[in-house]
Amino acid sequence: MSEVTAIILAAGKGTRMKSELPKVAHEISGRPMIEYVLDAARGAGVSRMIVVVGYGADEVQALLSHHTDVEFVLQEEQLGTGHAVMMVEPAMKNAQGPVLVLAGDTPLLKSTSLQALLDEQQSHAAACVVGSAMTKNNKGLGRIVRDESGNFIRIVEERDASEAQRAIQEINTGCYAFRAPDLLSALKKLKPENDQAEYYLTDCAAILLADGKAVRAAPVFAIEEAMGVNTREQLQEVERVLSER
Ligand code: UD1
Ligand code: MG
Repeated sequence: MSEVTAIILAAGKGTRMKSELPKVAHEISGRPMIEYVLDAARGAGVSRMIVVVGYGADEVQALLSHHTDVEFVLQEEQLGTGHAVMMVEPAMKNAQGPVLVLAGDTPLLKSTSLQALLDEQQSHAAACVVGSAMTKNNKGLGRIVRDESGNFIRIVEERDASEAQRAIQEINTGCYAFRAPDLLSALKKLKPENDQAEYYLTDCAAILLADGKAVRAAPVFAIEEAMGVNTREQLQEVERVLSER
């Protein structure tokens, strides 16, 4: 396999933490939560990490400055997850290998699951594999829409979903494995046509499918791994899970 890159989204403010500290800088057992994501990526064979920073960019960058395998890209305005990845384009121009896209606020991700996501992408020569998980607690999450044969069709955000789609229990974890050139070509076609007028990274999957590329959703994650930290209560919960591991 060629060099594996990870793009880690960490530009958001994390309003619900009720703190001036950027969300990904909040500590779990004395380490900023984003470091757990970096560890999981390294454990899956990632050799290059690009962290997208925005809110509190200087602070996050200073915090991670001793990680020599980490680069930073600035997203000045937070116009959506797709927009965040667009900021990485200049740094990715020559990349040919697989790219993981991850969020900096999911410290419970396991290396083995990221490896499984990469294996799925490689073995099916897929342009994109959406990492999914099964859960009844699907509130607020993007749903995985499949056809009658079980083939992936697209991801629909809750606020854009029909009633029938809201009932779907397979959700988007926000972790993806892309082929780098396919990711870049899909980003060029993204439009902010949704309820929030944001550039949704999730739309890249349907765009690549429409381009005739192989796109899959693979339930390689346990829902716990994908749990994003949004509140102080969730931060404590994650600390408890990590200390049990
Ligand atoms: C996203 C997915 C949703 C999925 C969920 C999993 C989209 C449109 N939706 O929703 O399908 O179920 O994650 O948790 O992608 N970020 C930036 N810059 C931005 C916007 C976001 O860096 O402009 C970062 C945030 O800091 C965060 C991550 O991207 O780390 C995810 O963003 P968030 O706003 O939490 O996405 P969701 O609405 O939860
Ligand atoms: Mg979120």
